[in-house]
Amino acid sequence: MLGVSWDTVRLFLHVLAATVWVGGQLTVAALVPVLRRAGAGIPKLAARRFAQVAWPTFGVLIATGIWNVIAVRAKVTGSYETTLVVKLVVVFVSGLAAALHQWARTPTGLAVFGALTGISALAALFLGVLLAG
Ligand code: HEM
Repeated sequence: MLGVSWDTVRLFLHVLAATVWVGGQLTVAALVPVLRRAGAGIPKLAARRFAQVAWPTFGVLIATGIWNVIAVRAKVTGSYETTLVVKLVVVFVSGLAAALHQWARTPTGLAVFGALTGISALAALFLGVLLAG
């Protein structure tokens, strides 16, 4: 059996939070057509409940992300640094788009910011795997 270290705990918490933030968004989006059939107000109720879980999760991603940067600081030069900076911009867009999606009141606003939230969350996930690889 392999040993468990603080690196294991750090990456476990970061990946756990990433699965909820990214996977949760994709799951809620997939359920919207069924929720609509259950009642016009149901998608909003489900989205609000998910937001109560998703925002603390985003906080865990930021906190463990800072822990990651401290842990891998020796690697943070050249193309690794560039990839990290691109990832941080994408993470910022992911959080901002999710907030704008939550505040949007028009169908266009909901659709545009919803799509941007999903794409940027997936991009952050991809760039995270690239950094760890
Ligand atoms: C939407 C937000 C985020 C997502 C979805 C995300 C996702 C991921 C994933 C999936 C990994 C790969 C873990 C592995 O395979 O072991 C990772 C690694 C990493 N993440 Fe994030 N992350 C996010 C936010 C952040 C933030 C805010 C920071 C910095 C402040 C950060 C810094 C890092 C670093 C440095 C690594 C490499 C860790 C290592 O190699 O030990 N991440 N991220």
